[in-house]
Amino acid sequence: MTAARVFVTRGLPVDARAVLGDGVEVEVWEGEAAPPRHVLVERARGARALVTLVSDRIDAALLDALPGLRVVSNYAVGVDNIDLAAATARRVWVGHTPDVLTEATADLTFALILAVARRLGAGERLVRSGGFHGWSPTLLLGRDLAGATLGLFGFGRIGRAVARRARGFGMEILYTTRSPVPEGVAEGARPVDKAELLRRSDVLSIHCLATAETLHAFSSTELFRMKRGAILVNTARGPIVNEAALATALAAGHLGGAGLDVYEREPEVHRALLERDDVVLLPHLGSATTGARTRMAEIALANVARVLAGGRPLHAANEFPDIIP
Ligand code: GLV
Repeated sequence: MTAARVFVTRGLPVDARAVLGDGVEVEVWEGEAAPPRHVLVERARGARALVTLVSDRIDAALLDALPGLRVVSNYAVGVDNIDLAAATARRVWVGHTPDVLTEATADLTFALILAVARRLGAGERLVRSGGFHGWSPTLLLGRDLAGATLGLFGFGRIGRAVARRARGFGMEILYTTRSPVPEGVAEGARPVDKAELLRRSDVLSIHCLATAETLHAFSSTELFRMKRGAILVNTARGPIVNEAALATALAAGHLGGAGLDVYEREPEVHRALLERDDVVLLPHLGSATTGARTRMAEIALANVARVLAGGRPLHAANEFPDIIP
C-alpha cells in the first residue's frame, strides 16, 4: 500500500513527520508566505490531507484540483478561509482547533484594550524617539477601564473569556449573540441588541464568526452609531469591519481609538490607519503563545491522523449526516 500523502502549507511548532509517523509521507512548505495557488496544487497533488492556515483560501476549484483529498485540517479555530459547503459536497472533512487558543486570544484582546485605552503605542514611540523628558501630569492621559462599559459583539468561547477578564477590571459587560448562551456562563454580562451595544459601549470588542452575515457588520452606519469617543477592538476577522469607514470615523473624532489584530485585506492595512496615533495595530497575534500554538498543531495533526485512520477529525467544522458521530 502506498503511504498517504499529507501537505502542510507552513512549518508548524510541532514536527508533523514525527507526529504522523512512518506510514505517512509528509511535505511541509517552508516558505515564509503561503505557497502560491499553482504551487499548492502542484505540491499537494495526490494528497489525502492538507494542513492549512487562515491565509490559505480553500475553495471549490482547489478541492476539484485535489480529488484524493479526505481532510482539510485548518490550523485555526475559524474556518472562513475554507468553502465548507464545497468541502462537504465532496465528502472532505474540515478540521479545526477550538478551545486551546481561547485564553491566549482573550489575553491578546485585553492587551489591545489596555494598549488603546492607555495609549501604550504612542508612549512606546515617544520613549524610543527620545521624546520623553520626564514625568508630566498631562502626558498621554488615557481612559479608566473601571466603571466603563465593555460591549462584546459575539459571546462564544473567546467573548466569554474576555468577559471574565473584564470583570476583574471592574467593567460593566454587555453582549450580543446569535446562539443561546448556556445557563451559568454569562460571566456577569447582560445580553442586549446590537443598537444598544453600539450606543452604550465605551469599548466594543468583536468576537463573532466571519460569515456573509457579519461581513462589514461594522460599517459607517454602525460606527457612527457607536458612543462618541468609544474604542473599537477587533481580534476576530478583518472583513467584519469596513476599514475605510473606521478610518473616517476616527478622523471625524467620532471614535476615540481602535485596536486591530486582523485586517480586511490581510496582511494589507488601510493606509489611513497606519498613520494614526490612536490606533494600535498587531500582526494577527491572537493565539500566538508557544502553548496555544503547540496545542493547535497537535490538534490539527490529530485531526489528520484520525481521518487517515478511517475516522472523523477530533474537532470537525463540518458534518456528514450519514456518518454517526
Ligand atoms: C486564528 O485567527 C484562528 O481562527 O485560530
